[in-house]
This record gives sequence, C-alpha cells and structure tokens, in this order.
Amino acid sequence: MRTIAVVNQKGGCGKTTVSINLASAFAGVGQRTLLVDIDPQSHCAVGLAVPEEQIEQSIYDVLISKSRNEPIKLTEILWQISDRLELAPASIDLSAFEQQMAGIAERDCCLKSALSEVKGEYDYVIIDCPPAVGLLTFNALRAATDVIVPVETGYFSLHGLSKQLETLNILCKRCNQQVEVRVLASMYDIRTKMAREILAELRAHFADKMFRTVVNFNTKIKEASSFGQPIGEYDSASKGQRDFRSLAEEVIDSEARQQRREMVNSLAGQLESISATADELLQAEPILQKDREMETQPVKPAIEIVQATKTEEPRFAEERKAKSPEKSKLAGIDARLSDYYGVTQINDAVIFVTLYPRADGVQVAGDFNNWQPGKTPMQKVGDSGVWQTKIKLPEGKYRYRLVVDGQWQQDPYNELTELNPFGGFNSVLEVH
Ligand SMILES: Nc1ncnc2c1ncn2[C@@H]1O[C@H](COP(=O)(O)OP(=O)(O)O)[C@@H](O)[C@H]1O
Ligand SMILES: [Mg+2]
Repeated sequence: MRTIAVVNQKGGCGKTTVSINLASAFAGVGQRTLLVDIDPQSHCAVGLAVPEEQIEQSIYDVLISKSRNEPIKLTEILWQISDRLELAPASIDLSAFEQQMAGIAERDCCLKSALSEVKGEYDYVIIDCPPAVGLLTFNALRAATDVIVPVETGYFSLHGLSKQLETLNILCKRCNQQVEVRVLASMYDIRTKMAREILAELRAHFADKMFRTVVNFNTKIKEASSFGQPIGEYDSASKGQRDFRSLAEEVIDSEARQQRREMVNSLAGQLESISATADELLQAEPILQKDREMETQPVKPAIEIVQATKTEEPRFAEERKAKSPEKSKLAGIDARLSDYYGVTQINDAVIFVTLYPRADGVQVAGDFNNWQPGKTPMQKVGDSGVWQTKIKLPEGKYRYRLVVDGQWQQDPYNELTELNPFGGFNSVLEVH
C-alpha cells in the first residue's frame, strides 16, 4: 500500500483537486483506492457529492478516538464513491484537533495507526492536507510513503517553495522516514508566458523531483467539482482527465521501477555475498581429508548423504565453478542464478542448491530415499538464504521434490519435470 500525502501550506494551489482526481484516476485503472480528507474545510466531500449533513462521523472521530479509549475503526466512517474508490471524509471538528491532542504522546501517529489497520485493503491511499504545516499535516507525513506538492504556476507560486520543501525534508528526517517528495505543476496555463517560464524554472530547479506530467488549467475540472464529480466521470474525454490519467500512470510506473530496482539490487547483493563467502572459504581451507578418502573408495550402490560442513561449502562452489567456467559478471543475473542453483552432478554425487531466505527448513525427498524428506535435510549456508546438500547416487534417473517448511514443491531451478499421479510436478534428475 502506498500512501501519498498531498501537501502545500498555500491554499488554492490545487491540493483537493489533485487528491480527488488522482484518487479517481487510480480507481479507474484498477487500483483499490482510499481518499482521506484531513482538511477541516472538508472539500473532498463537496467535490464528490457526499451530503455533508449526513456525515455522522468523520476522520476526526477516528483520530481522536484512541486517546479517549473508545477506538473507532476507519472502516466505520467510509463512504463508497465508486467501484474501487472510498472516502474517509473530514469535518470542521478537525480544526480543534491540535489543541485537543496537546500533551498526548504519539499524537502525530494517529493517522498512521488508523491506516495500518487497512493495510491490505488498498493499493493507494491519498491524503488531502489542510493549508498549514501543523499537527494534521504532520500526521499525514508520518503515515506517508510519498508526498506530492502541487505548485500552481502563477506569480507567487515559487515564493517560499524551497523553504517549504526544506521543512518537509527536515520533518521526514526527524522521524527517520523514507519519503519520496515530488513537485507537481498544477493549473498550468500554457498560454501565458509567465506560466511557461515558471514551469521551465521548476524543471531546472527540481529536475527528477518533479513529475513529467503537468496538470493543465482546464475549466472542465472546475465545473466537475461544482457538480460533485471527478473529472473522469464528468467528462472522460477532457484534457483534464487525460492529465490525471497520465499522472496516475506516472506514479504507478515509478513505483514499479522502484520495486524492480530494489529486487535487482537485492538479488545482485545476495549473489555477490554468496560468491564472496564461497571465495573466502575456498581460500581458507584445503579439501577435507575425509573427502579425499571417499574419492578413492569404490562407489557404494546405496545413496549417501554428504553432510555439508563449513569447510565443504567452498568445495561445492569450486566444483560448480569448474563445471561452468568463466561466466562474466555481465552474463546477467539469470545466467548466474541458473549457474548457481538447481542440481548438478559432480562425479558420483549430486549437489542440490536452492534459495529460500525466509524458510526455517528445506529438505529433499525423492524416489532415492523413499520420498522421506527427513532423511535428506538441506543445510543453510550462513545468512545468505541459500540451502544446499550433496547426495551420492548410483547411475539412474530420479524424481524428487523440495519440502520447504513442510510444503512440497518442485525445484524452481530445475527445468526437467514430470507430471506426478497427484497432478503436480516432480523434478527429474539423471546421474550418468
Ligand atoms: N487544473 C485546474 N484547472 C482549473 N481549475 C482548477 C484546477 N485545479 C484547481 N482548480 C480550481 O482552483 C481552485 C482551488 O483548488 P483546490 O484544489 O481547492 O486547492 P487547495 O485544495 O489547494 O486549496 C478550485 O476552485 C479548483 O476548482
Ligand atoms: Mg483543499
């Protein structure tokens, strides 16, 4: 769940318009979205035709309820706006929030704690903030993963903007939070020279901290809100709707890119640390005497599990290296994964290597051990998440599965499979 706070201490710069229409655009592209209004003026309800006189409880009641020991759940105050869009409305009581919470510990975390209860329910939460950096906005920042600062491209818009962004950064740092702050040009009127100059100035100044998408000034947007509708409903072919759709896509896309970056970094990091550990161990210890002896003995017909000890780990790695020599780092993470994981025959033994960072126990079960996983546990290699074991097997074709914390599954790193009588797949290996 991503939580986006829409913040600017100036009134009239487009916070509510961005909040409502971005929320609606998210819902329009299939994202489960919650719009939270924490501005006492409660403009979100007006802009979405929620009758104010019928709002019995608002976000105020939820935020204040914990300190009164009568918790009210966020889900109790929600209004359904469309298929995937819900609103937590505000009310005028919020203007007393700061005074009422004075002296109460954790008063800046009320919204964060309310939202944590609906974590799995939404893809996006958007918080429309009041035009002030007080306790309410601080609550939004504590809950946020992202901040959007809408900036109207008019004469006074740049005034105080840098100072405000600095304040936001200090607040986020103070609570030790990773928050992505980005500036959005709202109400951009391309016809005026000043707007064009200000946009150029913003782009030069904020570079990638600025959205590529610009929300143009569009009278349909104003009309839509006076009819209590998001622009997508009021006029789905309008320029305003296109801008908000493109903004939603830009946010979703940047999140996907961020996730991919994190995943690749973590995979690359894991592989680096595995190779580094293996290399270190390789240099540290000669081959075990026991293994030398084993090599000279005739192959036993029965299976034998070679328990991996710390000193044997590098041997596995060394054998693997010998089998697939010199793969450059640039050969790609996929290639490295398949080099490292799966099953490999080395002489008369088979090495199983797999990656389950969160597992408590991984075992191998196959026709070579009567499908009894307890007989062939895999050993964990440090904290790398890698599990490995070495089993001596006579020539032949074998079927096996991995048992990860009691769950039977096929080996994700072995492409050779066979359908089993239970409708699942067994992994297959051949010893020559
Ligand atoms: N892109 C836009 N095009 C036209 N009118 C806009 C646009 N964005 C906002 N407005 C209008 O400007 C006014 C102030 O916007 P609003 O979203 O309420 O700002 P804030 O929440 O920051 O006070 C409203 O009347 C709104 O309809
Ligand atoms: Mg507003």
